[in-house]
Amino acid sequence: MSVPSATKRLTTRDIGRLRQRAEPIAMLTAYDSVMAALVDQSGIDIILVGDSLGNVVLGYETTLKVTLADMIRHAAAVARSTERALVVCDMPFGTTTDPETALRSAVEIFQQSGVQAVKIEGGLAMAPVIKRLTDYGIPVMAHIGLMPQAVHQLGGYYTHGKAAESAERLSQEARALEEAGAFAIVLECIVPEVATAITAELTIPTIGIGSGPGCAGQVLVINDLIGLNTRPAPSFAKPRADAAGLVRAAVADYVAETKTAALQKRAGAA
Ligand code: KIV
Repeated sequence: MSVPSATKRLTTRDIGRLRQRAEPIAMLTAYDSVMAALVDQSGIDIILVGDSLGNVVLGYETTLKVTLADMIRHAAAVARSTERALVVCDMPFGTTTDPETALRSAVEIFQQSGVQAVKIEGGLAMAPVIKRLTDYGIPVMAHIGLMPQAVHQLGGYYTHGKAAESAERLSQEARALEEAGAFAIVLECIVPEVATAITAELTIPTIGIGSGPGCAGQVLVINDLIGLNTRPAPSFAKPRADAAGLVRAAVADYVAETKTAALQKRAGAA
């Protein structure tokens, strides 16, 4: 007889219930086993294995070179190192070109990583894709506004929803993706008033990043939260620690101690 786990993993229904109870949802990214376990043990609701993996871990300029194999390897590490959080894996660039391609890729992610949901970037064109996956039984988190996979089409990274036409399009996209079956939707870099209005229009939770406090939840890249970066974090991230400073100080201390000890040994032998 297997011993029941003390911790029960959150499901997409639990996330929906948080929204119904107006309890804010906390989501963070993680890409590896140690960080995922630490984030999980600290009470996070959702862990996203984001394709920001490309920028944060793999050293790419954009997320476009991240492959399905990259995502599966890191998502599997996160899934097997966590017990409580709902784990969501980003579907990388090129895997959502049509409903059947997306379904095959999502099945691979599910079978090989053990995550509980996928996330798909894109507006109205993603509605049939999300419908296909959710009809098949794969929970999908949608993602609109600033979509890093479309950076070349969008012409850079900037705030969305400033013009009335753009705000109306975002609201239309959000409603269509909810209708298609998404269980939640990320609103990235959307004018706060527009993000708040979209949140009020939907029954599924909105998870904001750089979109103000009016969303049902918030998400950040873990490295931006803990200051583990070599470049400045986005202005909305407000780092809570200086992990990069701690690493530099510990390494410098180790280097100094190692060199001093070696020099002393050499001097003693001379
Ligand atoms: O890839 C990612 O980390 C994301 C979040 C910023 C929402 O999509």
